[in-house]
Amino acid sequence: MSISPLQKARYEYTPKLPGMLRNGIENICVKVGAPTQSAADQEKIKELFPNTYGKEEITFTEGTNTAEKKKQVVGVILSGGQAPGGHNVICGLYDALKAMNPENVLIGFKGGPSGLIEDDCMIMTDEYIDAYRNTGGFDIIGSGRTKLETVEQFEIALKVCRKHEVNAIVIIGGDDSNTNAAVLAEYMAAHDTGISVIGCPKTIDGDLKNEDIEISFGFDTATKTYSELIGNIERDCNSAKKYWHFIKVMGRSASHVALECALETQPNICLIGEEVAAKKQSLAEIANYIADAVETRGNNKQNFGVVIIPEGIVEFVPEFSVLIAEINELLAGENTSKFNALESWEEKYAFIEAGLTKESMAVFAILPAGIQQQLFLERDPHGNVQVSLIESEKLFAELVRAELAKRKAAGTYKGKFGTQTHFFGYEGRCAFPSNFDADYCYSLGYNAAMLIAYGYTGYLSKVSNLSAPAAEWVSGGMPITKMMNIERRNGKDKPVIKKALVELDGGPFTYYAAHRDDWAVNTSYTYPGAIQYYGPSEVCDITTKTLALEHQA
Ligand code: FBP
Repeated sequence: MSISPLQKARYEYTPKLPGMLRNGIENICVKVGAPTQSAADQEKIKELFPNTYGKEEITFTEGTNTAEKKKQVVGVILSGGQAPGGHNVICGLYDALKAMNPENVLIGFKGGPSGLIEDDCMIMTDEYIDAYRNTGGFDIIGSGRTKLETVEQFEIALKVCRKHEVNAIVIIGGDDSNTNAAVLAEYMAAHDTGISVIGCPKTIDGDLKNEDIEISFGFDTATKTYSELIGNIERDCNSAKKYWHFIKVMGRSASHVALECALETQPNICLIGEEVAAKKQSLAEIANYIADAVETRGNNKQNFGVVIIPEGIVEFVPEFSVLIAEINELLAGENTSKFNALESWEEKYAFIEAGLTKESMAVFAILPAGIQQQLFLERDPHGNVQVSLIESEKLFAELVRAELAKRKAAGTYKGKFGTQTHFFGYEGRCAFPSNFDADYCYSLGYNAAMLIAYGYTGYLSKVSNLSAPAAEWVSGGMPITKMMNIERRNGKDKPVIKKALVELDGGPFTYYAAHRDDWAVNTSYTYPGAIQYYGPSEVCDITTKTLALEHQA
């Protein structure tokens, strides 16, 4: 395999562990904290997790290691979308297991959770692991989106574990995967299997966080990658002075990624889905808000700008959600084939007009034709509109164009409006992890091995105090049930880890809100540049503005 000079250099990078994990395995002991209870719905969650509920938070500290000395055979699974640093979680886990006892074994289940069910796995070796140190991607064992949630799956998982003598499983995933890790841990405990299950918090979306988990891994690198690209576009746009760039960024429903990129690059506008929902803004109101900035700048001969749009924005626009629900209803059952049988878009349009309420039809009518067709033509296997595929960067560019045309006719707007649209998502998910993510992930993996050695199950590997230098990070574990509440999913009450959305009274949004009026009309761009892996610590080891603003004194 030919490798790039950077990859070669990154193999030599030594990730920084929290200070308390730096004294060797023999000198890591456990400090047991207070018993925990779930974030809400305590009685129900206690009933669902009788064997794993209410356990204590634990912290590792310097002291004599009192863990039972037995051979460990650990299985590891990568679950869901890629996030930079996943390889380092596995490397940290491997190194800690081997440091405990060279006879310990790490088995990688391939292609995500399905690897466990299909018994598709490989044994990790020094040579294999070394080829993935400090690299991006999940290609070390692959990932997948199969959910481990049914008793039948758990029974098979148990058989596969028994076959390979696996005594612990580490699941590296987002909120859903870690919810399932907790359910699997409960199953393994209830059946007295002696198999423990530990989770690690992954997702570029940044929506797996709470008072215990400060940030999921991958968010730092992904937002730095998007911010580099956005900064480059800002500089291009400030040079050419002829385009408004509408840039959608990944992140699912939550707007954490968009907000962090805005804090890094100071664009003219950044939409925040959670604010749109709180203010119940309509598409027209959002378009007007952007058009106001375009008009002011245009009348000042500044016919350029940058707008950041979070991936999930349209879900938060109340009238749009109603429209989507009506479309899903309109095309349910037999209607799908009736609709599909119509030959021309005109006939289809008439069918839609007859089926939607007047209010939803009014929303539908203002959408650009391309988006209208996308809503009806690209649906998931259940017939539902795929909201994440909606090209909202094009939608808002077109809505703003229509609004500006009206303003031009009324004589208030005198500028020119040329647009470019972009979507940044996959570009950031497999970047070489930043030093922060390389260190954080390695620590999460190392820490997961310590949790296993001490016999914990149903815990999330936890490394906190992350806005301080790594030497001051605090390492330990938190019962996953502590992060749970009951939510309605697919018509059923389910215990789930609460998803974190942007808090409108939190530090990051408050900072953005205090500056956005200025950024909207003035050109205040900042250019973060490419991620730096080597050089001064204040450039290379710095983490996100979000983390700093959330944890400032
Ligand atoms: P996870 O929630 O699994 O971490 O996935 C993150 C993500 O990148 C989202 O931001 C995005 O909406 C989604 O995955 C895309 O999924 P896919 O890789 O299946 O296209």
